[in-house]
Amino acid sequence: MSDRPVTTTDAGIPAPSDEFSLSVGPNGPLLLQDHYLIQKMAHFNRERVPERVVHAKGGAAYGVLRITEDVSQFTKAGLFRKGAETDLLLRFSTVAGELGSADTARDPRGFSIKFYTDEGNYDIVGNNTPIFFIRDPSKFSDFIHSQKRRADNHLRDNNMQWDFWTLSPESAHQVTFLMTDRGTPASWRHMHGFGSHTFLWYNAAGAKFWVKYHFKTDQGIKNFTAAEADAIVSQDADYHIRDLHTAIKNGDHPSWTVNVQIMPFEEAADYRFNPFDLTKVWPHADYPEITIGRFTLTRNPENYFAEVEQAAFEPANMVPGIGASPDKMLQGRLLSYPDAHRYRIGPNYLQLPVNRPKAPVHTYSKDGPMAFTNPNDPIYAPNSAGGPAADPSIFAGESYQIAGEIIRSAYARHREDDDFVQPRALWENVLSDTDREHLVSNVVGHASAPEVTADMRKRVVEYWTNVHKDLGQGVARGLGLS
Ligand code: NDP
Ligand code: HEM
Repeated sequence: MSDRPVTTTDAGIPAPSDEFSLSVGPNGPLLLQDHYLIQKMAHFNRERVPERVVHAKGGAAYGVLRITEDVSQFTKAGLFRKGAETDLLLRFSTVAGELGSADTARDPRGFSIKFYTDEGNYDIVGNNTPIFFIRDPSKFSDFIHSQKRRADNHLRDNNMQWDFWTLSPESAHQVTFLMTDRGTPASWRHMHGFGSHTFLWYNAAGAKFWVKYHFKTDQGIKNFTAAEADAIVSQDADYHIRDLHTAIKNGDHPSWTVNVQIMPFEEAADYRFNPFDLTKVWPHADYPEITIGRFTLTRNPENYFAEVEQAAFEPANMVPGIGASPDKMLQGRLLSYPDAHRYRIGPNYLQLPVNRPKAPVHTYSKDGPMAFTNPNDPIYAPNSAGGPAADPSIFAGESYQIAGEIIRSAYARHREDDDFVQPRALWENVLSDTDREHLVSNVVGHASAPEVTADMRKRVVEYWTNVHKDLGQGVARGLGLS
C-alpha cells in the first residue's frame, strides 16, 4: 500500500480510476453511469468565473498597516488610531488587458487595498496615479471601450484611443502620466499608490475634513523605458506577479509610507481647483502631505483563484469616520463594484474567506446561491426578539447640507479649473529632461501605430500643444508633421 492518498470524487468517495472511463469492453462506448467522469468534465466546464471587466490581470499579497501618528482630530476611524495595526490585502493590476495579458504593458496600475478592520472592511480601490482620465461616470464605459478591443476585428486600436482622448480634454493630465515612464513601472513594489478620489473624514465630535491618500513606495520609484517594457512582454507575461511573489517568498517585504492631504471641510467651496474633480491633484503648496503610518506586505496568497480572482474590492466599503465626497466618479463607483461582484462571483461573495470581514457580521441578508453562514433568527427588522439593531449615531458626523437644481452638467467651474494647467505644471516643473524626452518618444511611438490616421495625428499634436508648446513641437517633429 503506498503512502499516497486515494483520489476521491468531490463528495469524498474513493475514485475508481485516474485515467480510464467506464466503458463497454475496451473499445467502448462509454456508460452514463460513470458519474465520476461526468463530475470531472462538468466541473471543468465551470472552473472560470467571468474575469473582471477591467483590471482583469493582477496579483496580490497580504500585509499589515501600522499607524504611527495621531489623526483623531480628523477621523474617528479605528484603523487610523495611533498605534492601530490592521491586516490587509493589496491587489495590483493592469487595466485594459485580459487575464492572460502582459504585466509590463503601458497602462495605469490598479492599487486596491482591503483593510480588515474591527469596524468592518474598509476598501481603498485606487491606482498608481493620483488622477483619472474622465470626471463623470457616464463616460466610463465609453472610455474603457476605447482602450479595449474593437467590435469588428477584436484588435486593440490606438486610433480609437486617441479619438477618445483628444475629444475628452479632461484626459490630458492622466494621459501625460501614462505616457511618461511611470506608465511602465519596473515592478509593483516600485510604484506609489493613490486613493485618487477625495474622501470625507469626520472626527468623534462630527468635525469634517476632505482627505486624499498617497501611498509612497519605500522601495523608490523604478520604471522601465518603453523598449525595456516591450522586451519583457515577449519574455515573461507574468513579470510583475513573479516579482512580487518572489520578493515576499524571499522575505524581502515591500512597504509603503501612508501620507494624507487634509482640507478643512469649508475650504472646498472656494478652493482654486474643484477639489472633487478626479482629473486634478491638490498641489502640495496648498495642502502638504502628512505621514500617518506605513503598510508592509508580508504573505503570499496560497490559492490564486480563491484569494485573488475572487477578491472583491468596493469603494462603497467605508467604515465610521470615513464617507463619500461629491466626486461624481466616486459616486458612480459606489454602485458599480458590488453590482460587478454579484454578477461575477455571486450574491454571497462577502461570505468567501478573502472577502469576509474579520469584524462580526450581524446582517439581515439571507440565503441565496452558496450561502453557508447562519443568518440567525429573527431574520427581519424591527423585531422584538433582541435581534441586531442599527445605530443611527454612527452616521451623525457624515451628514452635511447639499441643495441645488436637478440637471445634467459639467462641474461648476472653480477659479483656476482648466484641463491643461496641471499636466503643464507636471511638464514644466516636475519632469526631468530625460522624463520629457521619453514622454515625447512614448507618445510618438503610440501615435505612430499604422492604424492611427493622418488626421488623428494632427489632433494628437494639437492635444499635446495644449499641454505645452514644446511638448506639442516634440510630438509634431516625431510624427513628421513639422
Ligand atoms: P510638487 O513639486 O510639490 O509635487 C510634485 C509631485 O510629482 C510629487 O508628488 C512627486 O513625487 C511627483 N513626481 C515626481 N516626478 C514625477 C513624474 N515623473 N511623474 C509623475 N509624478 C512625479 O508640485 P505640485 O503638488 O504643485 O504638483 C505639480 C504637478 O505634479 C501636478 O500638476 C501633478 O501633475 C504632479 N503631481 C502632483 C501630486 C500632488 O498630489 N500634488 C502627486 C503626484 C504628481 P514623487 O517623485 O514621490 O512621485
Ligand atoms: C475594477 C468600474 C473608475 C480602479 C473595476 C471593476 C469595475 C469597475 C466594474 C471590476 C470589479 C470586479 O469585477 O471585481 C469602474 C467604474 C468607474 C471606475 C464604473 C468610474 C465611474 C475607477 C477609478 C479607479 C479604478 C477612478 C482608480 C482610481 C479600479 C481598480 C480595479 C477596478 C484598482 C480592480 C479592483 C481589484 O483589484 O479587484 N472598476 N471603475 N476604477 N477599478 Fe474601476
